[in-house]
Amino acid sequence: MSTQAQSKNVTLTTLQKIKDAGQKFACLTAYDACFADIASSAGVEVLLVGDSLGMVLQGHDSTLPVTMADMVYHVECVKRGNKGALIMADLPFMSYASESQTLENAASLMRAGAQIVKLEGGAWIANSTKLLAERGIPVCAHMGLTPQSVNRIGGFYVQGRDTEQAQVILEEALLLQDSGANILLLECVPRNLAKTITVSLEIPVIGIGAGPDTTAQIMVLHDLLGVSPITPKFVKNFLVGNNNGIPGAIESFVSAVKTETFPAEEHCFD
Ligand code: KIV
Repeated sequence: MSTQAQSKNVTLTTLQKIKDAGQKFACLTAYDACFADIASSAGVEVLLVGDSLGMVLQGHDSTLPVTMADMVYHVECVKRGNKGALIMADLPFMSYASESQTLENAASLMRAGAQIVKLEGGAWIANSTKLLAERGIPVCAHMGLTPQSVNRIGGFYVQGRDTEQAQVILEEALLLQDSGANILLLECVPRNLAKTITVSLEIPVIGIGAGPDTTAQIMVLHDLLGVSPITPKFVKNFLVGNNNGIPGAIESFVSAVKTETFPAEEHCFD
């Protein structure tokens, strides 16, 4: 394991300062102590314990089977390896369907070591966002392609391509910010929509398949290492051609995000 720590623990204030200075930060999924150590030591500011673990670790074809017990276990693992990154954790499918579930499950993730929880949805999560924020739990709102709703959407498709849908996403993003969200994550939306939302919000916006103009980029670890079974358009394999192995690949990702060389044109949707 690598032992070099981030020079200072990353907090929400750190991320807001990066945004306000017009700079970028890098986020990566992590599910265990070893990769949490490597990624945080490589300069990744946010480690997401994502429910993508249902697909990349457990072999399911969606994130729906992931349970709270799975999430708590992996958050605890990541916390043990982390060297100063901010730990974000997903509330899995149906774990925030009611107010009491939202509060209880978010509290379990925070007790396990998360520092911010992520919920998927638009206007309907505004109330949960407010409840959590009022009780001291930071929130990242995940919009655009929301994989927990794959059965409603009909597949893993780009969202917000028509003007009406784009306007709804923008308005709901503003509503979630007003409800207390500290970060917005946009997945698979046209780059111009992501740009409009990023400049309209005060909070940092993390993008995946959302073009180069968001405040930050996130990748799924297995995509970055080229070991995922499918390779969506927005993915880049940073391991291929890298002479410094996995730590080098993650460092290259961080550097590409900060120097704005990733995502490139070929990784964007119009
Ligand atoms: O679960 C996850 O890994 C995510 C990313 C795709 C952003 O939500």
